[in-house]
Amino acid sequence: MIKCNQLTFHYEYSNQGIENIEFSTEKGLVVGVIGENGAGKSTLFKCLLGLHKPQRGEVRINGEKMDYSKSGLISHRQKVNMVLQDPERQLFHTSIHDDVSMGPKNLGLPKAVVSERTERCINLVGADAFEKTPIQYLSFGQKKRVAIAGILALECETILLDEPETGLDPKMKKDMVYLIKKLAMEGRSVVVSSHNMDLIYELCDRIYVMHQGRIIANGKTHDIMSQQEVMRQASLERPLLIRVSEKFGIDTKLLWEGL
Ligand SMILES: Nc1ncnc2c1ncn2[C@@H]1O[C@H](COP(=O)(O)OP(=O)(O)OP(=O)(O)O)[C@@H](O)[C@H]1O
Ligand SMILES: [Mg+2]
Repeated sequence: MIKCNQLTFHYEYSNQGIENIEFSTEKGLVVGVIGENGAGKSTLFKCLLGLHKPQRGEVRINGEKMDYSKSGLISHRQKVNMVLQDPERQLFHTSIHDDVSMGPKNLGLPKAVVSERTERCINLVGADAFEKTPIQYLSFGQKKRVAIAGILALECETILLDEPETGLDPKMKKDMVYLIKKLAMEGRSVVVSSHNMDLIYELCDRIYVMHQGRIIANGKTHDIMSQQEVMRQASLERPLLIRVSEKFGIDTKLLWEGL
């Protein structure tokens, strides 16, 4: 479980960043982070991963303060890892197999385990359909799937997904929702950021709304997304289901069941 207290990080160059963040994840839950461009979502994720060291406040993992030494960060990455917004920054090999197996290999796992995890994760994201294609020839969405497979293969207790559905086709988006829910059901903590409010509504148990580097609301997804004023302040549109249910006076649960 991750917990942030008064987490504050500003970039040296722009002085932009995040301010006074109180945030926590929970085993078995999918937590969403939403906000307009530049709200601070990716910056928060990078702080949770230890890529940025806060100027103030702290990140705690299972009650322990984050250790920013090299060995501390290596051990941290075995517990928490992240699918970056841009897959290009996450893929290092030409072969999909080499890329996905790199993480488990670095963990020093036995060959048979590395091989089983690699195959399983490649199949999970549907990358087996283009497994032999060199990574540089893949489309953006295909690269995204490979990046996701690489993180899944690490089997971390907390997985951060920064805009995981960008570039994925509708079928893959659906598979992704299923996969994320399954990860949570298996007892992992998942944190997702997205601009797709319908996806967040479907996927997340709880959400945090960010605006100009701060958290302006958090709570159960439906409760927060129903608040027109909060969503307006964050320049976000409310999910279609909530808007339809309000317009026609139908309970969202009934609408959901009807889908
Ligand atoms: N490397 C950097 N150096 C300086 N400023 C940065 C850097 N990265 C981000 N920022 C600034 O920090 C703020 C938060 O950016 P961040 O990338 O966290 O937003 P975001 O919510 O992830 O946005 P998006 O939805 O576009 O991905 C923005 O004002 C951005 O310009
Ligand atoms: Mg971002």
